Amino acid sequence: MSKVCVFDHPLIQHKLSILRDKRTSVKEFRELVSEIAMLMCFEATRDLPVEEVEVETPVAKATVKRLAGKKLAIVPILRAGLGMVDGMVSMIPAAKVGHIGLFRDPETLEPVKYYYKMPADIGEREIIVVDPMLATGGSASAAISFLKEDGVKTIKLMCIIGAPEGIARIQEDHPDVDIYVAALDSHLNDHGYIVPGLGDAGDRIFGTK
Ligand code: PRP
Ligand code: URA
Repeated sequence: MSKVCVFDHPLIQHKLSILRDKRTSVKEFRELVSEIAMLMCFEATRDLPVEEVEVETPVAKATVKRLAGKKLAIVPILRAGLGMVDGMVSMIPAAKVGHIGLFRDPETLEPVKYYYKMPADIGEREIIVVDPMLATGGSASAAISFLKEDGVKTIKLMCIIGAPEGIARIQEDHPDVDIYVAALDSHLNDHGYIVPGLGDAGDRIFGTK
């Protein structure tokens, strides 16, 4: 069963409170999404394996730790996931970035795929899928399935706000994928929006409404 981690760090919670506010401007919203992604990335990578190596400082030899294990890739779900990429790569500059384009059909709420482009060695990388919103879980579940079809073995899912419905869907479809959220909200409304949520993340990041 997937582990669900809710990041209650005060800095993340403070920034999220501003993000939720409907009066927050597009500029500030975009900056906050990136900053929250950076802080969440810091927490979500806590379990990355390290190995000991020797370096020579100007003073003495020292045994120090460096990242070991698989290389990483960040995979945003377009559009809104794009808002989290800068924050992620500021923490992991060597990570490659793959893109999955999906939108939710407003009638059926089913994800529709329109773009898929991954680094050539994606099957050998550990992946963090990013999308600010986990509502029904349909988009994230489909994105994870595409990656698994491409040979990916290790995937984490990082969303800013999750709904119980979305968490349950990922746990059902992908019990091997751990889920990281900054908040676990109450429920979905009749249009599939997270309550209280923050509205339409893509529209608020790109100013399209
Ligand atoms: C939003 C959001 C997720 C999806 C979540 O994208 O960014 O990708 O909905 O909903 P789900 O869990 O019910 O699938 P949207 O379809 O609005 O597209 P956009 O990012 O292009 O605005
Ligand atoms: N997508 C969003 O952008 N917001 C929601 O609340 C649900 C899906």
